[in-house]
Amino acid sequence: MTPNPGLPADFGDRLRRRPGPAALGPGLSWETRSERRRRHVLFLEDITLSFDGFKALDGLSLYLGEGELRCVIGPNGAGKTTMMDVISGHARPDGGEAWFGDGLNLLESDEVEIAQSGICRKFQRPSVFGSITAWENLELALKGPKTVLGTLGARLSSEDGDLLAHILDLVRLGGRAGDLAGILSHGQKQWLEIGMLLAQKPRILLLDEPVAGMAPAEIDRTSELLSGLAGTCSIILVEHDMEFVRSVARTVTVLHQGSVLAEGDMDFVSSRPAVVEAYLGGLG
Ligand SMILES: Nc1ncnc2c1ncn2[C@@H]1O[C@H](COP(=O)(O)OP(=O)(O)OP(=O)(O)O)[C@@H](O)[C@H]1O
Ligand SMILES: [Mg+2]
Repeated sequence: MTPNPGLPADFGDRLRRRPGPAALGPGLSWETRSERRRRHVLFLEDITLSFDGFKALDGLSLYLGEGELRCVIGPNGAGKTTMMDVISGHARPDGGEAWFGDGLNLLESDEVEIAQSGICRKFQRPSVFGSITAWENLELALKGPKTVLGTLGARLSSEDGDLLAHILDLVRLGGRAGDLAGILSHGQKQWLEIGMLLAQKPRILLLDEPVAGMAPAEIDRTSELLSGLAGTCSIILVEHDMEFVRSVARTVTVLHQGSVLAEGDMDFVSSRPAVVEAYLGGLG
């Protein structure tokens, strides 16, 4: 992975990045399941989840590399959010396997354990605290949910202070530290929330439609922001905006009817007849 220009050399370490084993080429048939598990920070295999007999996920397999930014696309109802629910422990599948990191079985862990172990999820609506500053929102995220509001502003260690300052710059809010989060634009609130997730030092970020409702210029800046995180933590990005996906994605996974229809770069997946058919020609 290419280190992010402009970030301190140890920034990635602070976000607990561990170098993955050397990448193998795609399609190597001799790779065993246990090798594949070891080689990926997230390993989902043959996940099935039914709602009253309807299979929202149907044999879904997805393998995410350390530091990888993966876009997941698919028509409405394809199972994208349900997949995020399984990864974050919000929904329990009926079958399959889901492993994280060095051996956390996601199917035997609850939402809190999963979040504490480094899988941080952002929902579509920003949930920043409007009545405190951008900086204080980050401080709250760093110190944890039990922080008493009155302790905000107390002296941070210089390392934590540096980390928050870097995160604020990274999410394009360097000049807005002292502004109340409530006065930020919708896009800036989304960035602040991404910053709050980064302050929790995630190994995987789960982002569900982060650019929905953003102005075009904000979408461009979000693309830069997420591209700049590549290598710092792994990201699963669910998104409908195809232009945005094209601008950030290296590998795109297309879900349809609860399983993977195609995987590869944007040009590859958008040229698959099955993908075009699933979108009825609507893939930009
Ligand atoms: N709690 C639930 N109870 C019943 N059916 C559900 C539930 N959650 C999701 N579904 C169904 O599972 C399927 C997958 O839903 P999901 O929300 O994962 O799709 P999605 O790919 O995120 O779609 P979108 O692009 O519209 O957000 C849909 O048919 C949906 O109606
Ligand atoms: Mg969804």
